[in-house]
Amino acid sequence: MLSLRKLRTYRSLRLFIALFAIWNVLELLYIQSKAAQPTPVSLVPPGTRVYIASIHWNNEAILRSHWNDAVVELTRVLGPHNVFVSVYESGSWDNSKGALHELDQKLGDLKVPRNITLSETTHKDEISRSPASSGWINTPRGKPELRRIPYLSRLRNYTLYNLLALAAAGKTFDKILFLNDVVFTTNDILTLLSTNSGSYAAACSLDFSKPPSYYDTFALRDIHGHATVMPTWPYFRSRTSRSALKRNEPVPVTSCWNGLVAMPAAPFLPPQNLAFRGITDSLALKHLEGSECCLIHADNPLTRERGVWVNPRVRVGYNGPAYSAVNPVDARGLGSGGSWLSGWQVIRGLWENRIRRWLTTAWVEEWIVKRRVGKWMGEEKGRREDGVHCLINEMQVLVENGWAHV
Ligand SMILES: *[C@@H]1O[C@H](CO)[C@@H](O)[C@H](O)[C@H]1NC(C)=O
Ligand SMILES: *[C@@H]1O[C@H](CO)[C@@H](O)[C@H](O)[C@H]1NC(C)=O
Repeated sequence: MLSLRKLRTYRSLRLFIALFAIWNVLELLYIQSKAAQPTPVSLVPPGTRVYIASIHWNNEAILRSHWNDAVVELTRVLGPHNVFVSVYESGSWDNSKGALHELDQKLGDLKVPRNITLSETTHKDEISRSPASSGWINTPRGKPELRRIPYLSRLRNYTLYNLLALAAAGKTFDKILFLNDVVFTTNDILTLLSTNSGSYAAACSLDFSKPPSYYDTFALRDIHGHATVMPTWPYFRSRTSRSALKRNEPVPVTSCWNGLVAMPAAPFLPPQNLAFRGITDSLALKHLEGSECCLIHADNPLTRERGVWVNPRVRVGYNGPAYSAVNPVDARGLGSGGSWLSGWQVIRGLWENRIRRWLTTAWVEEWIVKRRVGKWMGEEKGRREDGVHCLINEMQVLVENGWAHV
């Protein structure tokens, strides 16, 4: 016979399990309903002027399958007289140049102002030059090598050339839209541009190459500056960032660059002259590196005032299947096909995130970075780096067929 005490324990255990299950189900239903809400039609004020910038290397496949058409359609909707398309491609060994040449012609037919620069300079050319006074580093391989991030910063800066030239001639833009080599729709861009009713220092999409994992871990930092705890939803360590994500609302972060990024154009113009950069070579020599796409937010004077946001309603893919996996459509192929997250992804994600937060700490990795930065600062007066949260324990250099960790 069950003793009274055992019966009580048994009953409270059953009650506990029931409440636990109910809590999980309610949270699941809440998140699924938020994730399934159709995105309201975005109102980008008519006449909004958008400077569209991108860099390319070996992107022919996606240019031909999606990207070119998406850019043409976007310029048509925004209005050819409201945009400028700035493309910089260099050293591709596929036929990216041919694909971008076709884009050039299509944009020409629509009378879209543009600068499509196709450079013959390859990675091999870049690394065979004699080292410049900055952007090179003596690596453990025993030679000076070209750092990847200052190189990428230089290319991204090239794409801003006409923004500055046009501003000097009195033609300005409201927003800069940075496009990666991703699948996107015009609606994705309109939704992104109208994040927080257009008030942001930067608004990013979420990017997927192999869903359900997101792609650009190098640039994404939660509102406390921590790297994500997991590659799948709900990603973040910070509660503030996570709870916005659960509501499917713009997520406050310190940094993001996940496929598409919209930023007000003003900080890039004089007197602020915001530009892409890497950390300085002497700091990189401590075996640290930070993405130019994270440092830009650390440098942007607007960041403190308006914030950096990930808009979870805008999800892009580095290929067609990745895009479709995170943008379900209904049976007629129209509109939203419900939540982009399965019930299992939500429940598993919530618990995996909790367990990872309970069992791991960002402290050790961040301490290694901070200690090296501290040492570097101590070596010379006046040294300073505002993007310490961007830094990771890596050294990255350009190589002939891409880039490498050394
Ligand atoms: C980026 O552009 C700025 C402004 O034009 C320039 O001062 C800086 O040297 C550039 N950085 C790199 C790495 O090319
Ligand atoms: C196009 O952009 C490049 C930099 O990417 C610049 O050197 C060139 O002068 C620009 N061309 C025109 C016609 O503005």
